[in-house]
Amino acid sequence: MASKVTFLGLLALSCYVASAADQSPLQDFCVANRNSTVLVNGFACKDPKLVEASDFMFTGLHLLGNTSNPVGSRATPVTVAQVPGLNTLGISMVRLDFAPFGVNPPHTHPRGSEILTVLKGRLEVGFVTSNPENRLITAILRKGDVFVFPVGLVHFQRNIRNGKAIAIGAFNSQNAGVITIANAVFGSKPDISSVVLQKAFQVDQNVISQLQKKF
Ligand SMILES: *[C@@H]1O[C@H](CO)[C@@H](O)[C@H](O)[C@H]1NC(C)=O
Ligand SMILES: *[C@@H]1O[C@H](CO)[C@@H](O)[C@H](O)[C@H]1NC(C)=O
Repeated sequence: MASKVTFLGLLALSCYVASAADQSPLQDFCVANRNSTVLVNGFACKDPKLVEASDFMFTGLHLLGNTSNPVGSRATPVTVAQVPGLNTLGISMVRLDFAPFGVNPPHTHPRGSEILTVLKGRLEVGFVTSNPENRLITAILRKGDVFVFPVGLVHFQRNIRNGKAIAIGAFNSQNAGVITIANAVFGSKPDISSVVLQKAFQVDQNVISQLQKKF
């Protein structure tokens, strides 16, 4: 009996651990009410009687993102920040534009897996598994190809052609979050102590200063 209870307990725990995505809705919708001062995980609900179609709508995903920046790519997010109706629904999306040979630099989404579809061009994509393997899983994608980046893993995309590339990403989170590795490590405010970064990257102070200046 005791072992059965322990087994059920472990089963319940493993089910809990496995559901790392956003919580499920408990009602038809809970449109984010940004005026609310109530602090909850996500956003408090707008009065359902005041909800309108515009709460569930975004316009402009057909527009080219501005890729005039050092990495040559632009993300146009459609998350709960842009569409309040996404609150509690556990989904969101992004349009990615790439200049010729542009890169979406290594980053992770702490709260969501991503499924990416290439609409135009050719992309080199990849993600790296966690310690100790740190195995790179990489592919070349063409128009119509789909690739998955598992939640939390560091990944990137690169346009390998001398023309524009476009992709659409979808997430199982209303707010998957983005941690760009270079920005987090070399561009934190205030800086991570260079003593830490010198040891971590096994390079001298000059290299760390150079990287910190860029981010
Ligand atoms: C928040 O407040 C503004 C200004 O008072 C109002 O126009 C808007 O409709 C309110 N939004 C919600 C979700 O209640
Ligand atoms: C694109 O971004 C660059 C750099 O921020 C800016 O100078 C330029 O005006 C932008 N172009 C458009 C069309 O918005």
